[in-house]
Amino acid sequence: MCGIIGYKGGKNAVKVVLNGLKRLEYRGYDSWGIAVKDGNIRTVKDIGKIGAVSEEDLKLGSAQMAIAHTRWSTHGEVNQINAHPHLSNNKRIAVVHNGIVENYVKLREFLKENNFEFYSGTDTEVIPNLIEFFMEEGVSFKGGVSKALAMLEGSFAIVAMHQDYPEIIGARNGSPLVVGRNNGGFFIASDVPAFLDLTNEVCYLDDKEMVIVGEGIDFFDLSGVKKEKEFQFIDWTLEQAEKGNYDHFMLKEIMEQKETIKKSIEQDDKKILEMADLIKEGYGVFFVACGTASYATRIGGYLFSKIAKKHVNVVCGSEFPYYKDFLTDKTLMIVVSQSGETADTIGAVKVAKEKGVKVLSIVNVMGSTLMRMADYSFLTNAGPEIGVASTKATTAQIALLTLLAYACNGGLEEGKEVLKKCVEESQELFDSKFVDKIEGLADKIVNYNDIYVIGRGTNFPVALEAAHKIKEVSYIHAEGMAGGELKHGTIALIDKGTPCICMVSNDEAKNDIISNAMEIKSRGGFIIGISPEDNEIFDFHVKVPDVGEASAIVNLIPAQMLAYYLAVKKGFNPDFPKNLAKCVTVK
Ligand code: M6R
Repeated sequence: MCGIIGYKGGKNAVKVVLNGLKRLEYRGYDSWGIAVKDGNIRTVKDIGKIGAVSEEDLKLGSAQMAIAHTRWSTHGEVNQINAHPHLSNNKRIAVVHNGIVENYVKLREFLKENNFEFYSGTDTEVIPNLIEFFMEEGVSFKGGVSKALAMLEGSFAIVAMHQDYPEIIGARNGSPLVVGRNNGGFFIASDVPAFLDLTNEVCYLDDKEMVIVGEGIDFFDLSGVKKEKEFQFIDWTLEQAEKGNYDHFMLKEIMEQKETIKKSIEQDDKKILEMADLIKEGYGVFFVACGTASYATRIGGYLFSKIAKKHVNVVCGSEFPYYKDFLTDKTLMIVVSQSGETADTIGAVKVAKEKGVKVLSIVNVMGSTLMRMADYSFLTNAGPEIGVASTKATTAQIALLTLLAYACNGGLEEGKEVLKKCVEESQELFDSKFVDKIEGLADKIVNYNDIYVIGRGTNFPVALEAAHKIKEVSYIHAEGMAGGELKHGTIALIDKGTPCICMVSNDEAKNDIISNAMEIKSRGGFIIGISPEDNEIFDFHVKVPDVGEASAIVNLIPAQMLAYYLAVKKGFNPDFPKNLAKCVTVK
């Protein structure tokens, strides 16, 4: 949450950070701000999205050094004063921050006792003032940052600059920060897309690390001891991080699934088999993830039971700590995350590590925190996912979990065949005729206040994820549930015309889920069947290919499209759903 970027180099820093902020907007879009240093520190801040703001609008001229922020508010309402950067009382230090300073009330009191004043409602404002406080005691800018950060409880990624120093300092503890370099300069940002137009040579900071960009670049731990770190090239392209001809990233990323499912299963066979052995040996296997990724793991749970005949526990990240008494050094934890930076999932890994649990990560962002914390890892290879609603990363996660399930049962080649068929046959879902049909369905149901989605077996978590997608971008109340559970309560809410999406595959649950759909139909519900075959009880049939154990993937794609069109038809921008941010780096 919140996007930060700093730049020092030969290009106009105002332009670099402005473009960077626009690419980071998916991380937060309540308000934004930029500070430049050209003699004095000057700032421009505003509420809302940075979207259409131009370099000229900023009236900041050009500078060699700038820091900037796009906010997802945690402490303090959304207004211009609370927007970052925040300045120290002497106006010489500017700081942008992502994370939460948990002890900010105590730190404010401490600073107030030392004659500091506060102007914003944020937790962040203590940081530049602590730096000023320590610098007044005679330490350098670097020393001031070190001492200030040592006082903070909670999580942070910060970028700071000082009017009298030629450097930008970045530091992290718990929130992501990545450094980029090219011939002309250095970048410090929350995520790679911020500077992908200028370089793909990156170095991820670890917790409790600091980077100083001056004449060159140096890395330190937070106590100031120098460290050596390596840069690496990330194989993302600028094209992948831009909308191209699409109106929204969400649609672009849905359509990219034409390619990404295939890429997700292009893994090293040897490694897949090694991981399969590890899973088989695991005495207590936990799948842990949040949000959409957690629904992917719930789908994985069914696939492991059915294909691998292996019991796995599926727990969402924030609940995992309450299972700690079941953990031993024989437990295996598999964490799944698009960003690799989700605070609740990271928190779960920390709990597991304390118990000696081995961790396998399945992430989409190379070098991300979860990847670095894990003992083993797979990349889902879906390319950068910018839309707040996860789509292509989700199907990549499901495909990889499917492959692992087959590998656990000695059927890696069979798994590959199933997924190859899925890739081939799912191509028809991206034809304009199919997409238009889903748009037409959105027209039919857009004015309803409630949508129900039912499934059984693997299709139960598919239903949960379909409802999740509809809710987060269209704000229509949608409820996913196990088909069999409907009659135990929720059926009371079905009225004439209530849209109900029914996920039907050619599996052992087919007859039962059709019966559940009939129960809804006989109470007036409008039945939308997502299924390889039509059925007389469907009022609307969305035909998907019959791809056996990979059916979760093809059933989800039309649901993603439907969510997208529902949002657009309601006049919402699906790339920026209200109250949400792409990467949830707070607990
Ligand atoms: O980056 P992660 O996959 O760990 O993110 C987990 C959730 O925050 C994420 O899936 C969220 O639910 C998305 N908004 C779903 O579209």
